[in-house]
Amino acid sequence: MARHLILNAGQLLTMAGPDAARRGREMASVGLVRDGAALVEDGIILAAGLRDIVLRHDKAASAKIVDAGGRVVLPGFVDSHAHPIFASPRLSDFEARLKGATYAEIAQSGGGILSTVNGVRGARQEQLAAGLARWAQRFLECGTTTLEAKSGYGLDLETEIKMLRSVAGAGGQTPLQLVPTLLGAHALPPELKDRREDYVKQVCEEMIPAAAREKLARFVDVFCEQGFFTLEEAARIREAAARAGLGFKIHAEQLSRSGSVGMAVKGLAVSADHLDCADASDIKNLAEGQTVSCLVPGSNYFLGKPYPPARRLIDGGAAVALATDFNPGTCPCWDMRMILSIACTQMKMTPAEALTAATVNGAWALGLGKSHGSLEPGKAGDLICYDAEDYREIPYYFGSTGVVWTMKRGAVVHSTEAPRL
Ligand code: NIG
Ligand code: FE
Repeated sequence: MARHLILNAGQLLTMAGPDAARRGREMASVGLVRDGAALVEDGIILAAGLRDIVLRHDKAASAKIVDAGGRVVLPGFVDSHAHPIFASPRLSDFEARLKGATYAEIAQSGGGILSTVNGVRGARQEQLAAGLARWAQRFLECGTTTLEAKSGYGLDLETEIKMLRSVAGAGGQTPLQLVPTLLGAHALPPELKDRREDYVKQVCEEMIPAAAREKLARFVDVFCEQGFFTLEEAARIREAAARAGLGFKIHAEQLSRSGSVGMAVKGLAVSADHLDCADASDIKNLAEGQTVSCLVPGSNYFLGKPYPPARRLIDGGAAVALATDFNPGTCPCWDMRMILSIACTQMKMTPAEALTAATVNGAWALGLGKSHGSLEPGKAGDLICYDAEDYREIPYYFGSTGVVWTMKRGAVVHSTEAPRL
């Protein structure tokens, strides 16, 4: 039986609170405890909070001590939007964009998503799994303990399933928890570019049922955007996901406004993501509904585009999550600290709101809110220790990660120092 007692957290951010995604003003509360402690047994938190109270737990005395050295301890980041399965970076796209080409122009000229599709189609499942496991190590080093993994670079039944199987394969090679999402509707495959109806049918009638049957995906996602999938097609894909018993996420209002937020909220999507072009009615819908607004400002940074309306969403009462959107085209960044920095400096989120967005609200955006994202009894023992005395230092410093150690399900899976035993 593995039992750990984390002691001497100068600031422990429990993120304790209501059993729901934090919305509006609730996002300002991080459950700050000074001189905090946490007791974790077999991967599950038994107690977290004031040192003296945690020490009174009858199992505290027999636990192995992990000394946080007076630093900040918080829940591991839950990165709820990422495309981490690909064969190679898109360096020519990067250069073309620096010379003025837009994301859409690059896609039309054979770069973009389709160039990654070529690479993924040509890769073996084991190669994809090994590549994902390598990225996973970098995420753990930056404090991410749970990561979404979207398919979407296969665009045919066989390759989409191969991608999802590679997530399962990588899951056996890394302690990072991977949550698979089927994104068959990421782009039209080149071979069906003039037969979009055939492809939408394939997604709805073949891919989604196959992914559900093999239990390879938890969610279905769609890129609802001009030149990609229409609102009507996205709605059909949502219905097919529901029929198969899978949850729904959507790339919504990213490059242009399609009206997909209304459909997503009504259809109980777990999250609506990007939202760069969301308008006042979308914000109202998100504030009144259950769908989490997942913002991925690393992609705006990388593409040099205006940021999504984080302030208006939070002030309007929405639940905002922050994710990396890690992918080779729009955000080659796995470090949540960078995303927190951008969220604060560019979108004017407060440090507390940003940390709430990257932990507890990230968990709700992945359907894991009841078991992840906060340090409360019964939840996963996923914690990080940051080299900081004050949690506001986390989004304040940027340019290198400050994670001292990462604990996943009660085991230290990354450390820059030998834990003092
Ligand atoms: O979240 N918007 C669509 N999908 C990704 C980009 C994928 C790519 O360019 O490879 C995104 O930005
Ligand atoms: Fe994305």
